[in-house]
Amino acid sequence: MYLRLLAASAVLVFTHATAFAAPLVVKYSHVVADSTPKGQAALKFKELAEKMLPGKVEVQVFPNSQLFGDGKEMEALLLGDVQIIAPSLAKFAKYTPKLQVFDLPFLFDNIQTVDRFQDGAVGQDLLNSMTKKGIKGLGYLHNGMKQLSANKPLRTPDDAKGLKFRIQSSDVLETQFKAVGANPQKLAFAEVYQALQTGVVDGTENPWSNTYTKKFHEVQKYIMESDHGVLDYMVITNAGWWAALPADIRDGLNKAMVESIKYGNKVAFDEAATFRQKVIDDKKAAVLPMTKAEIALWRAAMKPVWKKFEGEIGKDVIDAAVKSNAP
Ligand code: LMR
Repeated sequence: MYLRLLAASAVLVFTHATAFAAPLVVKYSHVVADSTPKGQAALKFKELAEKMLPGKVEVQVFPNSQLFGDGKEMEALLLGDVQIIAPSLAKFAKYTPKLQVFDLPFLFDNIQTVDRFQDGAVGQDLLNSMTKKGIKGLGYLHNGMKQLSANKPLRTPDDAKGLKFRIQSSDVLETQFKAVGANPQKLAFAEVYQALQTGVVDGTENPWSNTYTKKFHEVQKYIMESDHGVLDYMVITNAGWWAALPADIRDGLNKAMVESIKYGNKVAFDEAATFRQKVIDDKKAAVLPMTKAEIALWRAAMKPVWKKFEGEIGKDVIDAAVKSNAP
């Protein structure tokens, strides 16, 4: 009897010790491929966090909408089913209208100006714009400038008239395509390839890394070098979960996050041209440069979108973004 009790308590002690020592599992879910800037940043975060907090955390990365796709991931974060996600800035309007600034067409000249805006006071403030909703912004992460694509060349806005375009779930992007007489359709990222392949939509917009890794160029005949907008991310966590972490773990995760974002941004800067070249080399879609005059027509057609969203976004926020073009 005594021996049995002893054995039972030993099991209890052991179970308790194991439970106590079990690393904290941090799930990082996203919708793109591992080789994209976001995919690379997520894997770097895992590597660094586990190195900085040995035995204390285990980071599990779920790419390609494996765990949660668009639409579900934000809810899952708030419910505590996943701890880190990095949605595109186009997917936050339900939580703050201000981040819609990033969707305004022809606002940023290039990814360097986006970087400047995000680093500035207004951009940094926006990281905290959803704290009351339970979302904490850990940092911005780049992907790149978007290209328009379709099965016909899109030289002028008239060429887009009547075409159906897949868009992210953003009212700004909806208005942008309506401004050129096209029919925008909000679809989750995981559904884009099939929608293009089956003709549910005629065209779309995405940066080179997404186009190449999801093979959109295999189901589109033309990709225009329009650079008409940006697709970037905010890496976010559940504010309550983050605040309740032991201080050493929070500090370690924060350091790993800062470094992983730097790494992902470097991938974004360095590899946009590589992904573009891969699309060209595949010879499935023709990549068409656009003239300044053509771009000017698109800009003129889409620019009225700014005014429509000025009230929601805030003129101060838009002005700060414009300023980032001319340092
Ligand atoms: C999209 O839906 O097109 C993008 O937001 C996907 C992504 O995360 O890059």
